[in-house]
Amino acid sequence: MVRLAVALVCCTACIVGVVQAQDSKPESSLTVNPVYEKNCAKCHGKTGTGHFMAGPSLVSGKATAMSPDEIRTIITNGKHHMPKFEGKLQPSEIDALVEQIRAKGKQK
Ligand code: HEC
Repeated sequence: MVRLAVALVCCTACIVGVVQAQDSKPESSLTVNPVYEKNCAKCHGKTGTGHFMAGPSLVSGKATAMSPDEIRTIITNGKHHMPKFEGKLQPSEIDALVEQIRAKGKQK
C-alpha cells in the first residue's frame, strides 16, 4: 500500500512537470511577444518564417546560426532593408528578442 502511494506521488509529479514545461513555452516564444508582433512581424512574418521580398526567416537559416551579439547588432543598427530599432525599443526588449530568436533555432 505504501509502495502504491509512493508510485502515485511520483506519477503526479511527472505529469505536473510535463504540463508546466509545455505551458511555459508559448509565453517566452518570439511570435507571441507583443514587441515582435508590433515591430517585426510585418516583415519577418507572424510565425517568423519570413516574407517574400521583405524580411528573411528568423526561425531557420542564417539568423539561428548567428551569435547573440550579431543578432543584437542587426536589430539595434539595422542592415540593408532591415530598419534599426535603436531608440525605438528598450535594450531589455532587444535582449528578449535575441533570446527568443535563438530559442526558436534550438527547437528544430
Ligand atoms: C521593414 C522590414 C523589417 C522589419 C520591420 C524588421 N526587419 Fe529584420 N530584416 C529585414 C530584412 C530585409 C533583413 C535582411 C537584411 C540583409 O541582410 O540584407 C532583416 C534581417 C534580420 C535579421 C538577420 C537575419 C538574416 O538572416 O540575415 C534579424 C535577426 C532580424 N532581421 C530581426 C528583426 C527583429 C527582431 C525585428 C523587430 C524588432 C525586425 N527584424 C524588423 C527586414 C525587416
